[in-house]
Amino acid sequence: MHNPKLTGKERFFKDDEIIVSKTDLKGHITYANRVFLKIADYREAEVLGQPHSIIRHPSMPRAIFRLLWETLEKKQEIFAYVINRTKGGDHYWVIAHVTPSLDSKNRIVGYHSNRRVPERQVLDQTIIPLYKSLWNIEQQDNRKTGLQQSYKALTDQLQSKGQEYDEFIARIINSRGEAA
Ligand SMILES: Cc1cc2nc3c(=O)[nH]c(=O)nc-3n(C[C@H](O)[C@H](O)[C@H](O)COP(=O)(O)O)c2cc1C
Repeated sequence: MHNPKLTGKERFFKDDEIIVSKTDLKGHITYANRVFLKIADYREAEVLGQPHSIIRHPSMPRAIFRLLWETLEKKQEIFAYVINRTKGGDHYWVIAHVTPSLDSKNRIVGYHSNRRVPERQVLDQTIIPLYKSLWNIEQQDNRKTGLQQSYKALTDQLQSKGQEYDEFIARIINSRGEAA
């Protein structure tokens, strides 16, 4: 997390706002709403056609993005807590609901993400400690092994609770921060 472009300053958006973006099959941005542009501090022309990783924050564990892409490619939706980086290096947390868009032949034609304000207690009690532990596992010379091990740590942790990822997320989203 030694990125000189990070300010350490958190940004917030309102409970009634929704951050929206759409991508093509490769994750290149094809749409970003005004709330997206405002919080991430970009103009529309700066993000259209860019990989969505343009707002990737270095403290996001890669295992979560692996799970996100594997789920979407199976034509399933996913909820995920994500920390993003603004153009100037500030950060903001979201709870994202990402879905594949399908055509009449059931082929994936793109992806869509809606993001709302996450519960602070869920972040502090569950997500930040989980992501930190996954991120730590990923910090090793062999990137591939790091990702495999952190992904395994994630699935092992869920298994020890007898939960699928979907159930785990549904439970913490609905818990409003109470003993997740
Ligand atoms: C619809 C959609 C929305 C996405 N939103 C984000 C996002 O807000 N932040 C982010 O870091 N990655 C987002 N991603 C994942 C990125 O495409 C990418 O996998 C991730 O930033 C990791 O990039 P990297 O593997 O190049 O490090 C999104 C992907 C899709 C399909």
